[in-house]
Amino acid sequence: MQNGGPSRTALGAARYRAEHQVLDAASVFRDPLAVAVAEPGSGHAGFAPGHVDQDAAVAARMRMFIVSRSRFAEDALADAYRAGVRQVVFLGAGLDTFAYRNPHPELRVFEVDHPDTQAWKQQRLAEAQIPIPESVTYVGVDFERQRLEDVLPATGFDPAAPAFFIWLGVTVYLTRPAIATTLRTIAGFAPGTGLVFDYGLPWTPGTPEERARAEARMRRLAAIGEEWVSFFTPEDIAAELREAGLELVEDLAPDVVLARYLEDLEPAAQRPGPHLVRAVVATPAG
Ligand SMILES: C[S@@+](CC[C@H](N)C(=O)[O-])C[C@H]1O[C@@H](n2cnc3c(N)ncnc32)[C@H](O)[C@@H]1O
Repeated sequence: MQNGGPSRTALGAARYRAEHQVLDAASVFRDPLAVAVAEPGSGHAGFAPGHVDQDAAVAARMRMFIVSRSRFAEDALADAYRAGVRQVVFLGAGLDTFAYRNPHPELRVFEVDHPDTQAWKQQRLAEAQIPIPESVTYVGVDFERQRLEDVLPATGFDPAAPAFFIWLGVTVYLTRPAIATTLRTIAGFAPGTGLVFDYGLPWTPGTPEERARAEARMRRLAAIGEEWVSFFTPEDIAAELREAGLELVEDLAPDVVLARYLEDLEPAAQRPGPHLVRAVVATPAG
């Protein structure tokens, strides 16, 4: 991300979560703060969904994926909390609201993001009159220039205690070296540490229309300084995790993710969507 300002794609993801509260009655993911943070001052009733202007089926599928990945991550976090984990780190937190509705009394929440995005988020939280709990710590990081291991321990994060990392909607914006460094850093934390993240698959448009749509999207992302730069096959990601020292638990294709939470699944588009991965710090052999 190189736009000299806050992330615009973070607002896009937040709007999908907000739309889900209004259009789908929060059927998959209940986030009572989503509307307020996506559009401070709008109030729930006054919130006007925006993504519905696009191709409705594509927007609905994307919205369902985005809320399903949050549901998946927060369910996995709840399991980790039950197993004794007391610190969660949101990498590229964007406008995620977990920290402000955290149901786990002893859980510390670290929000890691680009400092410009964090300043903008804090302003939005203030506008929406959402208080910042004492359990929340902001950690300003540029993944392309800094290593988590150099920054996190100085913020109260305990590298000797297990943690849970949630890294959603971010890897596609980062270079491969930045992703590999972050994975290696996580792998170096305490046993019992877990991670949920998603990644984009390489895709070649099949028709001229698909190519035109893909090029238009890339132009839009380039114009806001948030181009998609890294794609992986499931084999690539398995190798990245192995090399970093992480153990792959599951790598779920989008239809598998959606099928967990939706009864009536629209037939899959030809285009492969993002995959969702759960991994843990590998236990040393021996
Ligand atoms: C699409 S948003 C996803 C936000 C959030 N995780 C969600 O699911 O709503 C991408 C996030 O990655 C962050 N990001 C992108 N590149 C970054 C970088 N080089 N360093 C730190 N954060 C970065 C952006 O600031 C933004 O918050």
